[in-house]
Formats: sequence, C-alpha cells, structure tokens
Amino acid sequence: MYLQEYPKGLGISLWFLGSFLAMEVLINLGIFCYQKEKIPRPLLFFWWMMYLKVRNCRPEYHKYFQTEIIFISADEEPKTNQVDALVRLIQETHPELPSGIVGIGGGTLLDLSKAVAIMLTNPGSSADYQGWDLVQKKSLYHVGIPTISGTGAEVSRTTVLLGPQRKLGINSDYTTFNQVILDPELTKGVPKDQWFYTGMDCFIHCIESLKGTFLNAFSQSYGEKALELCKEVFLDPLTVEESRDKLMMASWHGGMSIAYSQVGVAHAMSYGLGYRLGVKHGLGNCLGIPVFRRVLSRWCCSLQ
Ligand SMILES: [Fe+2]
Repeated sequence: MYLQEYPKGLGISLWFLGSFLAMEVLINLGIFCYQKEKIPRPLLFFWWMMYLKVRNCRPEYHKYFQTEIIFISADEEPKTNQVDALVRLIQETHPELPSGIVGIGGGTLLDLSKAVAIMLTNPGSSADYQGWDLVQKKSLYHVGIPTISGTGAEVSRTTVLLGPQRKLGINSDYTTFNQVILDPELTKGVPKDQWFYTGMDCFIHCIESLKGTFLNAFSQSYGEKALELCKEVFLDPLTVEESRDKLMMASWHGGMSIAYSQVGVAHAMSYGLGYRLGVKHGLGNCLGIPVFRRVLSRWCCSLQ
C-alpha cells in the first residue's frame, strides 16, 4: 500500500492499493480516518447499490467504525433535489455533523458525495450553487473511491447535477475530494458498454482540453498523458488487467486536465441530452462528437 499526500491546498491524497478487496479498503480507510482525524463522529458511506451485489461484501463491518452506509441507485444522473433530500435525511437523523462522507461507485455516486459534502456546511438548495465559485464555506471532509474509470469525477473540481432549470456543475475549490483511493481491482465486473462509454468520456476530456481555448501548461501536460493512455487502452492489444490499470490512470489525468481548463461542445451537447432526454453522460458525449464534427466541417475546420 502506498500513500501519497499532496499539500493541503490541493486537498487530494492518493492511495494506490494493490489487490485489496473492497472490505479491506473500507477497514483501512476507517482506521486511517480515525487516526488522522481523531473525530469520534460517524463516517457516512455512500455506496453504489449494484456494487454490493457484485462484490458480495459484508456491510456489518461498518459497525466497527461508527459508520453508516447509505445505498443509492446509480440508474439516473444525480439531481439537485436528490442532493437536497439526502442532506435533509442526514440532518434529521444526526444531531451533529458526521466526520465525513465516503463515496464508493461511479461518477453518479462520486458527484453526489461531493455535492452532499458541500451542502452539509452551506445553506440553501444545491441548485443555488450551480455555477462557478459560488460555494462560500468549506465542505465536509469527503473521500472518493471510484469503481469505474473515465469520468474524472474522482479528481475534478465540479459535481455535475441535473437542476430544475439546467444541468450544470457546482464548480469550486471546496468540491474536490480530500482523499481519493484508486484501486483498479475495484473496476472488475463493469459491463463492456459502460466501460467503453465511460472510457470515451475520458478520451473526450482530453480532446476538449487539448483543443480548447483554456489550454495551459498544466492542462496540456495532464491531457497529453491521458490521451496517450487512452490510445493504448483503445488501440493496443493490452490484457484486461493492463487496460484496467491504464484507464484508471487516464481517468485521473484527464480529470486533472479539465480541472485546469474547461470541457467543450461535446459535453455541452451531452448536458443538453441528459437534461432533456436523460441520456447518460458518456453516451451523450459520443453522440456530441459527430455533431461537433459536422459543425466544424461547415466552418472548414477539423479536429486535427
Ligand atoms: Fe465528462
């Protein structure tokens, strides 16, 4: 197990875990949080419902660490009213703030975890904070454990939510996770089409960042590395294990790239498709790319 801690300002730590099983991850995380934070209040775990079924984990372990597991379906994109309802539930059932929140799952669960961590310390509705740098107070300590690679949600400074009027992220310095656990073993069993479209989300992050007007030295270095890894994953004859490892790293670097720049028109198209028709994010991006190409061809431009 290897622990790397970044400066507090960046607010992110990476745990690279070899072949730890999910429960071992939770136990280690519980011990770490208990020792590091020394706060006796419970940790809340947001857990992707399907994940438990696939892994056949034993939820009774959470009792050792005063934890509470909240199961959330990932069938739909995260919504502002869902965040508000979760915050109300936590506030009604806990007399004081919990120690932190741990999001385990795909982009939906990670985004929900980030949004709830923000809204537990900030007043009003989560819809009020959709935009850029509207969050005033530091969010609750929160940890992300991705079980699918590509979204970049584990590292990005946004949590994209379907609101009453628009699909837009809560973009702020308080949105990023305080800690992230990256273990490719946890992405075992992801259905192939979901693996592909989520991986393409990462690929499109790279293209939009590298071709965008917000490109800078930071976003370029992360974007180029992520693009190189994506090309290996999608074009080279890798083993399944190698693909899992490389896509998880690509997701991280792609997320870092857009954290330092901006997404582009494919994501704008995807947000619209998600808001109007409920199209999943990765698929919406892929649908956006051909449209983007047609628009560009009208203006005699190309992606290359
Ligand atoms: Fe994306």
